[in-house]
Amino acid sequence: MKILCLDTDSRLAMSVANQLNCDVLKPEQRCFPDGEHYLRLVENINSEDVFLFSSLHQPDHKILPLIFMANFLREEGARRIILVTPYLPYMRQDIQFHPGEIVTSRYFSALISNAVDGLITVDPHLHRYHSLDEIYSIPSCVIHATSVIANWIRNSIDAPIIIGPDEESSQWAEDVAKAAGCPVAILKKTRYGDRDVRIQWDDLTAYRQHQPVLIDDIISTGKTVIETANLMVAEGLKAPVVIGVHAVLAEGAQQELDQATLKDWLTCNTIPHSSNGIDVSVEITAAIRTFILKEDV
Ligand code: R5P
Repeated sequence: MKILCLDTDSRLAMSVANQLNCDVLKPEQRCFPDGEHYLRLVENINSEDVFLFSSLHQPDHKILPLIFMANFLREEGARRIILVTPYLPYMRQDIQFHPGEIVTSRYFSALISNAVDGLITVDPHLHRYHSLDEIYSIPSCVIHATSVIANWIRNSIDAPIIIGPDEESSQWAEDVAKAAGCPVAILKKTRYGDRDVRIQWDDLTAYRQHQPVLIDDIISTGKTVIETANLMVAEGLKAPVVIGVHAVLAEGAQQELDQATLKDWLTCNTIPHSSNGIDVSVEITAAIRTFILKEDV
């Protein structure tokens, strides 16, 4: 097998490769003056499985090099090409709210399914889809960050209460609370726009002595967690620790999060960022081992 990394920041791929006792191939990549991509891989691929790391945060300029590389690897004789994208984009556009809107999750999944033979990812945003199999036609392995998040909470927080800001977050928040052995509350959110959300408060005054830990899969504009934190503090709860799986972080989000009434905020290393405090490399390594062992995936 080979690990090949298309990302500029290859720390996660290196950590996984160390655990698998193999090297990371880094193709030469640059852009021509006209903006088109140049790629070169000199190492031989001898009918091996290739685990292609490409963290698809900000996907639009990463998808073409990924498809070029996958086509090249296939021509070079790769046995199977497995995409390892710790953050899977285009999952939130999963329904047509207004006539004419394009449900991009379906077209994006078709692009990936045509390019590679399998997919490993961490906590994809499954809201109206219940499984990746509904849109991806290739085998996929979904890793959950819940146990590493629960470990972090057990080791770092006294008397935690887990808060999920909206109904979708219950799938992470409830599992984390169960694994960490602490109470959980799921709130309700209404979204009015890209940067406009309102959270409906539940009476949590019984938990004023607890340390709230606010958990969400994606922190993009940060509005969801900031709005929830403001409400908590206004209701007399402690300022929460915020944990996001994916540091998507839209423009301005980091500054707003740093200035918000939060005790702290951190993320998993699915998207490289200075807030990465929880490591998912062991889980990704295990998923790769599963793919290697299974001949039918
Ligand atoms: C969607 O509902 C997700 O679970 C997150 O709550 C959402 O993506 C967060 O977005 P933002 O940080 O822009 O509020």
